[in-house]
Amino acid sequence: MLSIVILGAAAGGGVPQWNCGCANCRSARNGHPELKSTQASIAVSADQQNWFLINASPDLRQQLTGTPALHPRAGALRHSPVAGVILTNGEVDALAGLLSLREGAAFGLYAHRRVLDILDDNPIFNVLRADLVPRRAIDVGAAFEPTLPGGQVSGLVVEPFAVPGKIALYLEAADSNAEGDTIGLVIRDTARTRKLVFLAACAEVTPAIAARLEGADLVFFDGTLWRDDEMITAGLGQKTGQRMGHISMREAIPALAGLDIGRRVFLHINNSNPALRPDSPERREAAHAGWIVPADGMEITL
Ligand code: MLT
Ligand code: MN
Ligand code: ZN
Repeated sequence: MLSIVILGAAAGGGVPQWNCGCANCRSARNGHPELKSTQASIAVSADQQNWFLINASPDLRQQLTGTPALHPRAGALRHSPVAGVILTNGEVDALAGLLSLREGAAFGLYAHRRVLDILDDNPIFNVLRADLVPRRAIDVGAAFEPTLPGGQVSGLVVEPFAVPGKIALYLEAADSNAEGDTIGLVIRDTARTRKLVFLAACAEVTPAIAARLEGADLVFFDGTLWRDDEMITAGLGQKTGQRMGHISMREAIPALAGLDIGRRVFLHINNSNPALRPDSPERREAAHAGWIVPADGMEITL
């Protein structure tokens, strides 16, 4: 069995974004609190006791507070069910939450060498003590079993895979794209009866990506934008989705249409995306094609 909690569904900035006056952000502030969403992250567990976070968003503290399964065990003075964190890229919205996990708890931190280098190069991340929070390099194509802080098995098998994507925005001037900047994860129970694929940033559905998704019980897929140029036409920014390493929903929906996938859930949804609104034609189109636009806190059991 695999248990999943969607801690946050939004892209960087969340909904509403602190400095944004777009229609969705204004609605989220005024009259439509159901549009509010924190930045993308999920928690996964094979035993409903020990949980692995996929990415650590800047909203992690709020997400942990709002998720009973992630509260300290009753009666324990210091404890957390968070057994580990697996990072899929080095963007601010994927790793800034690590700074909120600095209170002396032990957990494993897993990321590709490209992302571990970002942590190693930034001494502020040393607030996570090396003896308590070992940094473990993971590589594309190399399945691993994340362990609990005491070394016990987690019941999970994780296989990272290469994804068309890009280096973190804030590193663009200093470095160029390389394999490992963005990874996807195939997550299974150790008996391999369930398959979850986490792919919250993806620039293109190549045949290799489609093959990874085939047969999954559940896929979390990049839902940043509805249209590639939506931020430009809305006057919110200069960049296309492609420039940011994100395929749009309207291209992803047909690209994945023929695949055998149990449940399709968009994640990392930008506040500019019209599919956020339950009454929009875009949401109807996504729902008609079998896609879920989730709310924070949604739980799924496989
Ligand atoms: C992205 O997903 O493209 C990044 O989070 C962009 C950003 O950091 O603003
Ligand atoms: Mn992002
Ligand atoms: Zn906005």
